[in-house]
Amino acid sequence: STQPIVYSFQSTSNLSDSLAEYILKAQKESIDKRGRFTIAISGGSLPKTLTALIKKSGVKHIFYADERIVPLDHEDSNHKLAYDTLYSHVPIPSDNIHTIDLSLQNDLEELADAYEKELIREFAQKDSARFPVFDLILLGIGPDGHTASLFPGHELLSENDRWVAFIEDSPKPPPRRVTLTFPVINHAARVAFVATGVGKAQILHDILDTPEIGLPAARVRPVAPGQLVWFVDDPASAEVKLA
Ligand code: 6PG
Repeated sequence: STQPIVYSFQSTSNLSDSLAEYILKAQKESIDKRGRFTIAISGGSLPKTLTALIKKSGVKHIFYADERIVPLDHEDSNHKLAYDTLYSHVPIPSDNIHTIDLSLQNDLEELADAYEKELIREFAQKDSARFPVFDLILLGIGPDGHTASLFPGHELLSENDRWVAFIEDSPKPPPRRVTLTFPVINHAARVAFVATGVGKAQILHDILDTPEIGLPAARVRPVAPGQLVWFVDDPASAEVKLA
């Protein structure tokens, strides 16, 4: 697996500009190669740094790295957050935005299976690959080192088979969620983490300087030729040594 590349910025607006460039380059490469750009995005403060998705059009298919099992217009919904911060500013055909099917919310296994089928439809032209290859997966981190809805010590850390899994015991509310699994994240062409603020300094040090501890975010190691990039600000990277 590849070593992470860490880009640190003085301000979040510099970070956001640079992330925009990175996304547009990824988009161009993907569209040149296969005529579409398929990405997975996360919640938290991430969507508002995604100016590139607002600035330039192009055939985009958007999935969620994880989603909370709440109505799509609920404050806790990652889709609602992305809608408010991104889609309301840019016309993305709703067929290209892949949300969870809440009619299945009483059976999370079925709901996760349905989202997995949605991925299978998107990546159907995959060759013999056992896992989908996203052009880009954008992730945040929690102060405990979780990413997507992959939490420290959780049994999902060893899920090697499913593409989409569910949990009903998230330590961070809301408890019921679906998430892409590590094999899917680690088969992406590019994975980019975004982390800002002094509140992330200690966990960023733990993730990057002592990956052997095995925090969820440290288990993100795309298989070659996949690329792993961190976009962080100086307060977040203040404790990082990165030998
Ligand atoms: C979650 C988290 C997640 C978020 C990280 C980072 O519930 O899984 O909230 O959505 O990406 O916690 O959050 P910030 O980007 O706000 O630091």
